[in-house]
Amino acid sequence: MCGIVGYTGAKAAGELLLGSLELLEHRGYDSVGIACRDSETDEICIQKCVGRVRDLKMVCEANPVHSTCGIGHTRWATHGGVYEKNAHPHQCGKVTIVHNGIVENYRELIEDYNLQGVLRSETDTEVVAALMDVYYEGDAETTIKKVVRKLRGTFALVMMFEDKPGVIYAIRNVSPIVVAKCEDGMMLASDLTALGNFTKEYFVMPEYSILKLEPNTMSIKDMDGNEVEPEMLKLDWKVSELGKNGYPFYMEKEIMEQPNAFYETIKTRIDKGLPNLLGDGVPDSLLTDCKRICIVACGTAMHVGLVTQALVKSVLQMHIDVELASEYMYSDPVIDQDTLVIAVSQSGETVDTLEAVKYAKARGAKCMAVLNVRGSSISRVCDYVLYTEAGPEIAVASTKAYTTQLAVMFMLIAKMAQLRGVMTEEEVKTYIAELQKVPEKMKAILDRRSEIHVIAKEVLESKDLFMIGRGMDYSILLEGSLKLKEVSYIHSEAYASGELKHGPIALITEGIPVVALVTQRKIMSKELSNIKEVKARGANVVLFIKEELGAQLKEDYNVVMLPNLEDKFMVFPAVVALQLLAYYVSSDKGFDVDKPRNLAKVVTVE
Ligand code: AGP
Repeated sequence: MCGIVGYTGAKAAGELLLGSLELLEHRGYDSVGIACRDSETDEICIQKCVGRVRDLKMVCEANPVHSTCGIGHTRWATHGGVYEKNAHPHQCGKVTIVHNGIVENYRELIEDYNLQGVLRSETDTEVVAALMDVYYEGDAETTIKKVVRKLRGTFALVMMFEDKPGVIYAIRNVSPIVVAKCEDGMMLASDLTALGNFTKEYFVMPEYSILKLEPNTMSIKDMDGNEVEPEMLKLDWKVSELGKNGYPFYMEKEIMEQPNAFYETIKTRIDKGLPNLLGDGVPDSLLTDCKRICIVACGTAMHVGLVTQALVKSVLQMHIDVELASEYMYSDPVIDQDTLVIAVSQSGETVDTLEAVKYAKARGAKCMAVLNVRGSSISRVCDYVLYTEAGPEIAVASTKAYTTQLAVMFMLIAKMAQLRGVMTEEEVKTYIAELQKVPEKMKAILDRRSEIHVIAKEVLESKDLFMIGRGMDYSILLEGSLKLKEVSYIHSEAYASGELKHGPIALITEGIPVVALVTQRKIMSKELSNIKEVKARGANVVLFIKEELGAQLKEDYNVVMLPNLEDKFMVFPAVVALQLLAYYVSSDKGFDVDKPRNLAKVVTVE
């Protein structure tokens, strides 16, 4: 949640902060603000408003501040409604602050320090600023240490002190901060997308260390005052990848990028037709010795787990659980040294997933992560990390992360099948050869996206919509349904079609749209029976079906043919069709597809 940025150097701070906040808006966009130190008067000027960065730009144009040092914030409301008074930055006395995270004990702090009288907002952040001001007597680092020791919760705090011109301080616990030395100064942000235009090298701020940024230098000290040397990382994204490249929305761009992203993700993991994970540092013993697998993730990443579960059971005949990361710690999971916990996450910052991994690790599990962002928090707590090569995913609705995470999972399963002797070398080569066809099959459905657009127009005005299928089709539809919900606000529900007659079919009324998915030959006849049941009750059925299964059904249904792959690989063309459906419904409704209401790209609060 929340996008944070800070800059101190030779450039015009206001313009740079606003431009960077635009790149961070996917992290939250209820309200936005910047605090810039006026170069003439040294005064800290705060400009903030409800709405988007474009709205704040108009405020700043009307009241320009000449400054080379400032901090900025784009908000996803946690404490306090979406009002200007709750927008960051917050200023109390000599302290100006922006924050990403949740301070759980802020109410106690208000009581303990009798802060009621100085607070003007409903936020936990302002309480931190007020507490800093209570302790501040000129020594910023001592003040920060004293206050942070009293905070419970997660935080990325970035602040300026009235009598420290040109200097920015920061400290974090769980919530991310990345830092870079740029050509004309020093910069920090809550994620890499804000740094991509300024640097090719960065570091992740260590937790509970105090960062001090000055125009041409910086220092990091731990809580005992010892200097900390940061671990520098290479920014492996090309700046061009950060733009929309001519598409109206990032979501469309990222859907279209999937064939290439998929290819980039598997190409280095195939050696003479066989899976090779040595480049990922995954020892064979990890894959042969584990007795259970548990996937922990949220949202789309959790749906990757469901498809993986279907494959692990069918290909490896292994026991595998898929757990909602936000439920995991409270569900008394069975964890031991034979458990391989796999965290799946695009951002590598989802705090539910991060905390689930820490919980499993503390109980002896070996932890692996499938991530898209190098150096992210989850990568730093796992024993093994396999990266997707999707490039930056900006749209809140995750698309290419899903297909590239599955690409990694398909490779992992192939490797395990080979090592465990469940598949012969020839069978593994056949499996890998089929996997290598996926990009062209995804492209085939992308080339026919106008067909999907026609379907989208038919469901545009729906309030409710069902998606029905069995087995892996059901798992795929859970993802398709989330996409549609997220970006179009249609109340879409995915149901195991065999379950409909046990209650939900009561909701099937005349004309209600039902999207059916049929890609698995072994359950096709049952799925078609369930489709007939809803059609008999007036449903308006759109059937997405694997081409070789659907030839005779064109007369009976509104059919979208999906390019043929072996059944277990059909998730790829199927999900691309469902992503496109969601995208077109949202864009035809005139919504801001990339920034759906109430959502943020990275959920860094529990
Ligand atoms: C998916 O479209 C959503 N944006 C959301 O469910 C997302 O998948 C979830 O928050 C997990 O994010 P992560 O992959 O960065 O951990």
